[in-house]
Amino acid sequence: MPVEVEAGKTYYWCTCGRSEKQPFCDGAHSRDGTDLVPMKWEAPETKTVYFCACKQTKNEPLCDGSHGAL
Ligand code: FES
Repeated sequence: MPVEVEAGKTYYWCTCGRSEKQPFCDGAHSRDGTDLVPMKWEAPETKTVYFCACKQTKNEPLCDGSHGAL
């Protein structure tokens, strides 16, 4: 999922897949009683990055192309 991020800004990537505000956490992991927590990520520079939406990436929280093998 392409997102324009800002240098130094912190983002919370959803790891549970239940957020309605993908790719970011909306608290659903807690409401649904999972043991999962969001991943904190700070943007190193201002640019468009591609967050993983399938949650299978090995380069969390960014896309590594793993969705292509699903
Ligand atoms: S809603 Fe998925 S990690 Fe918070």
